Amino acid sequence: VTETTPETNVTETSPAAQTGEKTRYIVGIDGDYKPYSWMTLDGKATGFDVESIQWIADEMGFEVEIKPMAWDGIIPALQQGKIDMVYSGMTISPERLQNVNFSKPYWIVNQAVAVREGSDLTIEDVKEGKVVMGVQRGCTAHTWIDQHLIQTGNLSSDDCKLYKNVQLALTDLQNKRVDAVMYDVPVIKDAIQGKPLVMLGEIQTDEEYGVAVRKDDNDLRATINEGLDKLMTSPKWDELKQKYEMA
Ligand code: ARG
Repeated sequence: VTETTPETNVTETSPAAQTGEKTRYIVGIDGDYKPYSWMTLDGKATGFDVESIQWIADEMGFEVEIKPMAWDGIIPALQQGKIDMVYSGMTISPERLQNVNFSKPYWIVNQAVAVREGSDLTIEDVKEGKVVMGVQRGCTAHTWIDQHLIQTGNLSSDDCKLYKNVQLALTDLQNKRVDAVMYDVPVIKDAIQGKPLVMLGEIQTDEEYGVAVRKDDNDLRATINEGLDKLMTSPKWDELKQKYEMA
C-alpha cells in the first residue's frame, strides 16, 4: 500500500525521488496505548511513537498516514499489506520475527503488575500463578503468562482472562473479576492514574521495542533505522521523552 500523493500514474516501483513526490506509508498503531500511541477525543493520533514517526518522516522525506487498529490483528494486517509498518510499542520477539521484520530497538521495558489498592498480594504470588490474571490478548505479557505460568501448570488457562485492550482488563480488575493485570511498565503507570489501583511490582523482561515491517521490505527497514538514528541523537528525542514523561 505504498502510495504516492497526490494521486498520479506513478507506479509503486518508481522511486519517489524521481517524481519529486513523496512516498506515503501507512502506519498501524493501537489507538489505546498511552503514552506511546493513542487517539484523542477529536480523533487525532498522538503519543511518543506517533510523534517519532512523524518526525522521522519529515526528516527522511516521506509521508505517513496513521491508522488505529485492533492489536491482535495488527501483524496480519502488516503481512497482508493493509499497513506498511507497526510503530506502537511493539516488542521485538522471536515469535513475531517468524512473520515480520523489525527496525533496530528504540526503547526497553519490563512488565508491570497492577492490583487493587489495599490488595495483600505479592509479586511472588503472581510469579507462582496464585492469582486470576487479566491481560491483553496477543501482547508479550500474554506470552509471558502462557510460558511461565500456564505451560508450567501453575495457572489454569481459565484463570487467565484475555481482553482486547488494557483498559478493559483494568476495569475488570477494579470490579474484582481478576486479581492482577500485567502489561508494559510505562503503560500501566499511565493507565492506573486516578483509579483505585496500584503497581505491585515489575517482572524483568528487558523487552526491546522496534518498528515492525514486512519481511521483504528491506528498503523501508533501512530508512526507518536511519531515521531512528537521527531522531535518537537529536534534541527532539529528549523533548519527546519529557513531553510524554518517559525520561
Ligand atoms: N510491548 C507489548 C507487546 O509488544 C505490548 C504492546 C502493546 N502495544 C500496543 N500498542 N497495544 O506485545
